[in-house]
Amino acid sequence: MHVLGIESSCDETAASVVTLNGDVLSDVVASQVEVHTPYGGVVPELASRAHLHAIVPVIEEAVAALPRGFDDVDAIAVTNGPGLVGALFVGVQTAKALAFARNLPLVGVDHLVGHLLAVHLRRANESEAKPDYPYVALLASGGHTALYEVKSPFDITMIGQTRDDAAGEAFDKVAKLIGLGYPGGPLVDALAAKGDPKSIVLPRPMIGKKGLEFSFSGLKTAVAQWVARNGKPTSESVRADLCASFQAVLVEALVTKSVAACEAYQTRRLVLAGGVAANRGLRERAKASCDAAGITLYVPAMASCTDNAAMIAYTGAQLFHAGKRDDASLSVYGRRPDVRRGKIV
Ligand code: KG4
Ligand code: ZN
Repeated sequence: MHVLGIESSCDETAASVVTLNGDVLSDVVASQVEVHTPYGGVVPELASRAHLHAIVPVIEEAVAALPRGFDDVDAIAVTNGPGLVGALFVGVQTAKALAFARNLPLVGVDHLVGHLLAVHLRRANESEAKPDYPYVALLASGGHTALYEVKSPFDITMIGQTRDDAAGEAFDKVAKLIGLGYPGGPLVDALAAKGDPKSIVLPRPMIGKKGLEFSFSGLKTAVAQWVARNGKPTSESVRADLCASFQAVLVEALVTKSVAACEAYQTRRLVLAGGVAANRGLRERAKASCDAAGITLYVPAMASCTDNAAMIAYTGAQLFHAGKRDDASLSVYGRRPDVRRGKIV
């Protein structure tokens, strides 16, 4: 089975062809970073327009990897939420038109479920072991930070989430405060590697508290207050120290709660997902803590962590295989209902 996945929920236009067992046959991502950089964040209207420009060439390139092109596509999967509604519409309308014109089945995929299953993708030259179910997954991205118990592609429960900011949002805001640019996560990550994580004392959010919730707005405020007191750091070494101190505290919170979730849900498998899972500090710290606790850590390839359509195609393939179908009435949703805990699939 060859499933074409289409993703346009935020600032990446992406298309990919994946098989039922996760082999990635093509994976095309057109980034809009240049469009949004002058504004220091994603501008929804500009995102929709950029998706309109990119979507057809991106899909054509993804499908060109198949010997008979579109004739080899068996089904179309598309992200229909959560995300920017205008951006989602571009992908969903394109998918509907293609499904109608080619007489192919269509299925809507939740972007978050895509992230939670991305670890199962098998890219060329990738030989990493894949986790069995159930596993605990930490999903940390620009818009979401939460822990999930994943029992199967069709049985996923949120078991804790952030009370305020997402981890990626905190990275992006701190980068902006220091004047690093957008998107901030990778820039903070690179600088943090050169700094001393113990040089600046920042609050350790929720770490002493029971439960599986996160909170990052206090940490962000603490960095803002440091900048207000000391001024924007001009020297590379002070910037590196600030990034290292911020990242260490944030990563400690993510890892402590993830390990606690594995204990609480009695699983020895932890999966990292979402854009922040690309963070080197998080990967290292999670590996060390999991080794100490006897938990096996599974980290997707970098290209599977940040937004991509391969995870949407893979999730769509699982849904198709289980008989799920959508039709031309498929709609988009900007947000999931604000559940503190509970089943998402
Ligand atoms: O999953 P993603 O690509 O898009 C969303 O669905 O939000 O995540 C994007 C977020 C951004 O906030 C970005 O700054 C962050 O992931 N990010 C990182 C790193 N790479 C991307 N944060 C920390 N370290 C990184 N290396
Ligand atoms: Zn995402």
